[in-house]
Order: sequence, then C-alpha cells, then structure tokens
Amino acid sequence: MTTARSTVLVTGGAGYIGSHLCVELLQAGFQVIVVDNLCNARYKSLDAVERITQKPLTFVEADIRDESALTRIFRTNDIDAVIHFAGLKAVGESTEQPALYYDNNINGTLKLIEAMQQSACRTLVFSSSATVYRSPPELPLTEDSPTGPSNPYGRSKLMIEEILRDLSAADPDWRISALRYFNPVGAHPSGEIGEDPAGPPNNLMPFISQVAVGRRTKLHIFGNDYDTHDGTGVRDYIHVVDLARGHLKALDYLAEHCGMTVHNLGTGNGYSVLDAVRAFEAASGVTIPYEVVERRPGDTAASYADVGRARDELGWCAEYDLEAMCADAWRWQSRHPEGFGVGGEDE
Ligand code: NAD
Ligand code: WQD
Repeated sequence: MTTARSTVLVTGGAGYIGSHLCVELLQAGFQVIVVDNLCNARYKSLDAVERITQKPLTFVEADIRDESALTRIFRTNDIDAVIHFAGLKAVGESTEQPALYYDNNINGTLKLIEAMQQSACRTLVFSSSATVYRSPPELPLTEDSPTGPSNPYGRSKLMIEEILRDLSAADPDWRISALRYFNPVGAHPSGEIGEDPAGPPNNLMPFISQVAVGRRTKLHIFGNDYDTHDGTGVRDYIHVVDLARGHLKALDYLAEHCGMTVHNLGTGNGYSVLDAVRAFEAASGVTIPYEVVERRPGDTAASYADVGRARDELGWCAEYDLEAMCADAWRWQSRHPEGFGVGGEDE
C-alpha cells in the first residue's frame, strides 16, 4: 500500500518524464530510488531534481535487465511501488533495430517483474503510449478504442500491457496501472530540468525549441495537406508536470484497487503543428523559420484523447495549457541551450 511516506522505485528516472516525476514524488514526501543505465540521460538531471526539491534521492546506475542489480535493490530496500519508465522510445530506430527494442523494453520489463515477484512489492505503474492505438484513429481516443501499433516500439508497449494484464489475471494481488501518454512536452517551471534528446530531435516540440535557441536552422513541417483545420498534423500535447502528477494519482488509485487499469493521459485538446509553432513564437519572442516538406511515413492526421476515464477514476485533469507548455520548454531550453549534454550539435 502506498502512502506519502512510501518508497518508490523509479526505473528510467533520470530521463525526461522520470526526472519530472521524481520532483513530484519528493515534493509529496515519498522516498525515491532511481535505477537508470543512463543510455539516454545524464546524472545531472537528478542533481537538478535534488536542487529543485532540496531533498535527496538514491541513484543506482544499472540496467534493468541486470537481474543481480535489481535483486539487490529489492533486497536492500523496502519498496512499496515501482514506476516503470525505463525503455527505448525512438519510433524510427525501433524499425531499424527491432530486436534491440524488444529486448530492452520487453525483456527489461520481464526482469523487473521477476525481481518484484521475489519481493513483496506488487504495485506497478507502467509508461504506455497513445502509439498503441490503431491508425487512423476514431477520435477522440478512448481506452477502449482499437489497438494496433504500426511500429516495433509501439508493439513493445502493447505487448507489455498484455503481459501485465496476464500477470494481474494470474495473481489478484497485483495492482497495475498502464498510463497511455499522448504527447508529453514542456519542462519544469524552474527551468532546471527538461527534454534533452540525443541527436536531432524526432519530436516536434524539442525540434522547435532547438531552432529557437539556434541549434537548428529551421523546422521541417511534415505535410500541410492533412484533413485538419490548417492542413498540418494535430496532436494532444500535455505538459510533462501534469503528466507526472497523473502518476501520483495512479498510485493513490492503486492503493484502493487491485487488478489492472488503463488510462489515457492527455488534455483532450488537439493542436496543429502550426498552432504549436505560433504558440512557441509567442512564448519565446523568437521567429521559427520553417519549410513544409513531405508527410512523414506512418504519421496520422490527428490524435487526441478522451480523458474522461482519468478524470472520473483517478481524479486527474491536466492544468497547463499550450502557452505554459511552450513558456516552460523555452525557459529550460534558453537557460540550457545544450541541455544536459546528451544531445548532438547542429545538423
Ligand atoms: P527518456 O529516454 O528520457 O527516459 C527513459 C530513461 O530510461 C532514460 O533515462 C534511459 O537512460 C533509461 N533506460 C532505458 N533503457 C534502460 C534500461 N534497460 N535499464 C535502465 N535504464 C534504462 O524517455 P521519456 O520521454 O522520459 O520516456 C519515459 C517512458 O515513457 C518511456 O518508457 C517511453 O517509452 C514512455 N513514453 C514516452 C513518450 C514521450 O513522447 N516522451 C510518450 C509515450 C510514452
Ligand atoms: C507531432 C506532429 C508530425 C517533427 C511520437 C511517437 C509516439 C510518442 C510521442 C512515445 C506530427 C509533426 C514532428 C518535426 C513535424 N512517443 N512534426 N516536424 O508523431 O505524435 O508521436 O511521440 O511513445 O510514439 O510516435 O509526435 O512530436 O513526433 O509529431 O512537422 O520535425 O509534428 O508530423 O504531426 P507523434 P511528434
């Protein structure tokens, strides 16, 4: 059972979403242990978490596929819940290296489950993704919308959900929450932690931020002939702090409910690429040069969530709007033009 004094293990906690979650957990009074192999993060993010919160956390540098490291963590700590972010997330790379993605994401999750089974901990919050839904989607996407991911990354997320569902069916003591994130963006309002992709960003918001700060020359807009209000792709962007807070609500929910649940975490609003560019320009005062190019293969015209289930069952709603997402992303990017040093330099 988790309470505000509980100890939470955060896998992948040095990463973008994980570091924001650590801030929220520490501020709520939880003890936090992070396990991360730093394949896509720097320890500096956790230093910043401690600075923001003025509270310490425990860091273990290890791969979640390393059974002995995980077993040691569970033996030496009384862990009440696990929030599981550790995974690889680049859609294009997953198509080129599917085995790497299945090994890291699925095998990693299986090792985590094994270690949890050897301990008394049966509470798990899993980072799933809106990418598990079938495309083109019927909008808005509810948790019951048909699934059918179109790439190995998305399939790894859906397979993990299925593994977790089987686990909870086999043993009713499990308390599992799969959270399907829409498009997490923005940064902590302190400007001390934020998204720091390695190499040229695959995602829209970090690309816009890097253009604004002068690391990239212009944004390529992938198509303006979609059936949307201005022809560019529409997505449900959600502030990473709102997203992090959704995990605390999921922990509260799991304290009262056994079994497995699935919730969308989004705002329910769809914004186009051009809406995002304009909002970022307004927040930063910087003009974003762009060029419209071909559609990106695999992209869908529009995707946004029905957030009713998270509101009704978790008591959670996003609070920040697109303006705040852009303002906070810009504060982070302008104060830390090179991020934590994970990313590459200009094109
Ligand atoms: P991120 O890459 O910043 O964070 C993932 C962290 O996991 C990194 O710090 C990385 O070093 C670590 N990691 C990866 N494999 C590991 C392993 N085998 N052992 C230990 N540590 C490992 O990504 P993020 O954006 O913070 O995403 C967190 C989670 O949320 C991921 O599972 C991702 O698939 C999921 N998700 C992200 C988005 C998004 O757009 N950012 C959307 C939906 C779901
Ligand atoms: C948003 C919009 C692009 C970049 C991806 C993953 C998904 C999830 C979230 C993890 C689209 C357009 C983008 C650019 C552009 N991640 N775009 N120029 O594709 O909704 O989702 O991230 O689970 O799995 O697929 O997000 O930010 O890449 O794209 O025009 O340089 O911006 O075409 O319309 P997406 P995105």
